[in-house]
Amino acid sequence: MKTILVTGGTGYIGSHTCVELINAGYDVVVLDNLYNSKKVVLDRIETITGKKPKFYEVDILDRAGLDKVFKENKIDAVIHFAGYKAVGESCVIPLTYYKNNISGSVNLYEAMKDAGVMTVVFSSSATVYGDPASVPIKEDFPLSTTNPYGTTKLYNERILEDVSTSDEEWSVMLLRYFNPIGAHKTGLLGETPNGIPNNLVPYVAQVATGQREYLRVWGNDYNTVDGTGVRDYIHVVDLALGHIKAVEYALEHKGVEKVNLGTGIGYSVLQVKDAFAKASGKEIPYQIMERRPGDIATCYADTEKAKEVLGWTAQYGIDEMCQDGWNFTLKNPNGIE
Ligand code: WQD
Repeated sequence: MKTILVTGGTGYIGSHTCVELINAGYDVVVLDNLYNSKKVVLDRIETITGKKPKFYEVDILDRAGLDKVFKENKIDAVIHFAGYKAVGESCVIPLTYYKNNISGSVNLYEAMKDAGVMTVVFSSSATVYGDPASVPIKEDFPLSTTNPYGTTKLYNERILEDVSTSDEEWSVMLLRYFNPIGAHKTGLLGETPNGIPNNLVPYVAQVATGQREYLRVWGNDYNTVDGTGVRDYIHVVDLALGHIKAVEYALEHKGVEKVNLGTGIGYSVLQVKDAFAKASGKEIPYQIMERRPGDIATCYADTEKAKEVLGWTAQYGIDEMCQDGWNFTLKNPNGIE
């Protein structure tokens, strides 16, 4: 049985990926500093799968802590989610983002190399494409970033490409996520934003529960179907299943592969609002506001490479994403506590 180390494994995407790894027959070891997640997530993973992952409360900046994990476990591959992920926050405290997301990741890659573990799946983001010249976005499109968070994703990609070039034994999967939303069908796992949600769907969910008065729509003067921003929303379980395919591929191949994980379908802010209203049965009042700095008009994935290389395509549509997200919100009105 192969053992996978999941950094950030108690987080939103990490926890869903742990469930699917266990379901696929892998042994899972979770490493997390619990800065942005709760240890109780491990109990919920056990409730869903019948297995509780081995857990290390370690910060990726703690080299000795990382070495302990690799010393005590025979790790076959690493899925690296651990990192700060708020675009707006990264503009306010860039050095914290560079230290954690870059220095912390380099720490991890060094510990992997010293332990002879050279298979890594990295949690990248469509944000590395910047404002694309056209859509759908292909993996060979130009890369550019407009905020420190996105830059840390791009730099991690560059670092891993250089590591692979320096040693052909490395196997590197760079997975570029579009917009993950939704939750596990049990309602036991889902997204628990800290404070006021930056992202659309967690904010809409809080309007649906009455926690927020109305949705602020950041601009309706974009060149899109209804003037509001268009994004490629992907069910977090589809995203997790994409990681299972990526690990399988990485364990069989050396070198670097960059793969989009999206649905290839774009929805506008107002279309998502309507889908969530339908799923929840709640009115979602909104007000059109000024554009949010740094936002782009349209972003959705070309999904051909994921299909060809990984044999993976997203299965869930926007209605199920909203239904599962609403189900989680109802069961966890204050998020996972
Ligand atoms: C989606 C659309 C907003 C909130 C970011 C990161 C990306 C990933 C996902 C981490 C846009 C509009 C939003 C609101 C709104 N993050 N919106 N009112 O900006 O596409 O992507 O989050 O991995 O890397 O870049 O996601 O959900 O913030 O915005 O009108 O209250 O919803 O303008 O058009 P985004 P988002």
